[in-house]
Amino acid sequence: MQEHEAADESAPGHPRSVRSFVLRAGRMGTGQARALEEYGPRFLIPYSAAPLDLDAAFGRPGAKVLEIGFGMGDSTATIAAGTPETDYLGVEVHTPGVGALLKRIGEGNLANIRIVQHDAVEVLDHMIGDATLDGIHIFFPDPWPKKRHHKRRLIQPALVAKLAGKLKPGGYLHLATDWQDYAEQMLAVLSGERRLANTAGDYAPRPAYRPLTKFEKRGLRLGHGVWDLIFTRL
Ligand SMILES: C[S@@+](CC[C@H](N)C(=O)[O-])C[C@H]1O[C@@H](n2cnc3c(N)ncnc32)[C@H](O)[C@@H]1O
Repeated sequence: MQEHEAADESAPGHPRSVRSFVLRAGRMGTGQARALEEYGPRFLIPYSAAPLDLDAAFGRPGAKVLEIGFGMGDSTATIAAGTPETDYLGVEVHTPGVGALLKRIGEGNLANIRIVQHDAVEVLDHMIGDATLDGIHIFFPDPWPKKRHHKRRLIQPALVAKLAGKLKPGGYLHLATDWQDYAEQMLAVLSGERRLANTAGDYAPRPAYRPLTKFEKRGLRLGHGVWDLIFTRL
């Protein structure tokens, strides 16, 4: 992920909220732009600081999984296609990614995905009710490798407390990363949240529903590690 370090520094003396992303001016492919136009109205849910009725948003009751930062949506589309009985709410800030996932939705007729294009932290705070989610996926969140950027990492005690509150009892939180020190941070933070229980001794085996991404396959060939963490809400 590219970094544009100066992009969101506010003027000195102004309060500055630390976000987990920097908006990049990504190029939209024509297919993505067309998908935004064609499928956006049906599958995009506008951000609003008001609770979202998830069953109404998908037009049916049933299991609801939130995904934070779906990137280009490859895993989202594969998982949604493989489990049509579950509904997936994907949250992503990056417009080309939103276009790419809409394209996959259109091509695959994936009626069980909806997208909110907004900061997931605000979506959690304002749109998602307590104990409403059956699962949460956060795959390969930006690692922010430089020490002075660690504060931007998504997985911190305050956010994990928020996530735990949104899960139904028995619901799960599934994280994956290919950065060892971030994996260790994830394990420490999740283990420190008393409402969550680890499903494994430490790291979990990759469940069959999470597909290997292209870059993950390459990394594994090069001998790099990938760590999955799956905790459930008590
Ligand atoms: C490294 S990418 C991983 C994408 C994808 N999950 C994957 O496995 O390929 C992280 C993504 O999270 C998104 N992101 C980071 N912070 C976010 C936030 N607060 N709300 C929504 N999306 C966020 C970024 O825009 C980026 O697309």
